[in-house]
Amino acid sequence: MDRIELIRDLFLRRGDSEYGGESVTQMSHALQAATLAEVASSPPALIVAALLHDVGHLLHDLPDDSPDRGLDDRHEVSGFRFLKRHFEADVVRPVRLHVDAKRYLCTVDPEYLASLSRPSVVSFYLQGGEMNREELEAFRDDPHFESAVELRRWDDLAKVNDWLTPDLDHFLGYIDRVGTPAE
Ligand SMILES: [Fe+2]
Repeated sequence: MDRIELIRDLFLRRGDSEYGGESVTQMSHALQAATLAEVASSPPALIVAALLHDVGHLLHDLPDDSPDRGLDDRHEVSGFRFLKRHFEADVVRPVRLHVDAKRYLCTVDPEYLASLSRPSVVSFYLQGGEMNREELEAFRDDPHFESAVELRRWDDLAKVNDWLTPDLDHFLGYIDRVGTPAE
């Protein structure tokens, strides 16, 4: 299976699962995030990152309400490990950092924390809560810092009921314009 077929297959098999206590499915959440990236005229790698940022949730069999049970599925790590076999750094690094981006934004912007949905606040504390000074500096120094923060903001907005987005194949089309892992 090539990487496009692999991703299509994952979404078709697992994409109808609930997105962590929100009112959208994983598929809808991914398409909404990718739509926001596309509307922002992002480069193809960041649109693909937006589409695939939660692919880690599709790779495990933990229940959808894991955070309510005190479980952090570490989906940003499992997603990163899966994606780095198929995609360049400009796709996989923002995915790896999108949870840290939430911790970052909550640390520097109290209004951001207040704006999060309840499931997102629950997972925030499971994911480590606010960053300390060293974590903040390391995050800001990362070359993919800005992309990760952009992705995070789309992630937070991509929870709308009944949003008619372009379909999965539309966004899979961007994958041919994105590089493979560096050797
Ligand atoms: Fe997400």
